[in-house]
Amino acid sequence: MTIQNIGVVGCGLMGSGIAQVAVQSGYDVIVAEAAQEFLDRGLQRIEASWSTMLAKGKLSEAEVAASRARLHTTLNLADFADRDIVVEAIIENKEEKIKLFRTLDTILPANALLVSNTSSLPITELAAVTRRPSQVAGLHFFNPVPVMKLVEIVRALETSDATVATLKDLAASLDKTAIVAKDTAGFVVNFLLIPYLLSAIRMYEQGTATKEDIDAAMRLGTGYPMGPFTLLDYVGLDTTLYAAEAIYDENRDPMYQPPVLLRRMVTAGLLGRKSGRGFYDYAK
Ligand code: CAA
Repeated sequence: MTIQNIGVVGCGLMGSGIAQVAVQSGYDVIVAEAAQEFLDRGLQRIEASWSTMLAKGKLSEAEVAASRARLHTTLNLADFADRDIVVEAIIENKEEKIKLFRTLDTILPANALLVSNTSSLPITELAAVTRRPSQVAGLHFFNPVPVMKLVEIVRALETSDATVATLKDLAASLDKTAIVAKDTAGFVVNFLLIPYLLSAIRMYEQGTATKEDIDAAMRLGTGYPMGPFTLLDYVGLDTTLYAAEAIYDENRDPMYQPPVLLRRMVTAGLLGRKSGRGFYDYAK
């Protein structure tokens, strides 16, 4: 199957990035949200990214204008009736995702693919509520989507070879490198990344070093582009907590048990850059 048009549900950090990359790659995209204000915020994020890319000469005015013309928005999922594939990028809540997959399954054409950008929830559970489990998979992008080159394709129990092949072609057309992972919580990246981030929080709780020094250690000692606390703030503390909980729920390995400080910070609304404060203050 060849993908010609794409639907994205959710215009948050990830959904807006996925929609942006897809229109830049020539696809007609409809992005859906529950309320206009969420669409407006997502579109502002895309425009800001295009301004940066224009200023750096990575895109021309004509390319931005053509991309903008391919980007459509909706508050009504019924508009997805002609989509070849829909990428779900809503909140990391299993019940919400299951409800959405059930609805999308009744709207999409019979041959359309239905994929989730979840970072750690089981794809097989989403596939199971549809009549098209062989056409359901994970398609996990990384933040910032316009920059990060990786996509994880997650093969659920019943995902067909044809679906995986189509998703590999799609990833290549978006200028991403795809890897294929089994449907186990965390897939490849978060299975490795989450214990690293949680260990940094535990180390900070124990007073081993300041968060600034832990960040500097990993940047300068190992060449990571961001230290763990800068990355936690960048990814979002809530997102990290959901991912840790999802993996811990599945394997009960203490490495994935969220530290108390992470829970408390999320409860207090200290979510990182998106809320203005996390481990660092972004108010300025
Ligand atoms: N749109 C377009 N371009 C962007 C951009 C955006 N949203 N964000 C950054 N860029 C560009 C910048 O313009 C810059 O371009 P040049 O190289 O041409 O100057 C380039 O990316 C680098 O950005 P900066 O100079 O601003 O800063 P930096 O060198 O620190 O890079 C970064 C920023 C790319 C985010 C880098 O710090 C990085 O790679 N950090 C780690 C990010 C990471 O690990 N992401 C994965 C998180 S895990 C996840 O997402 C999955 C999950 O499930 C939780």
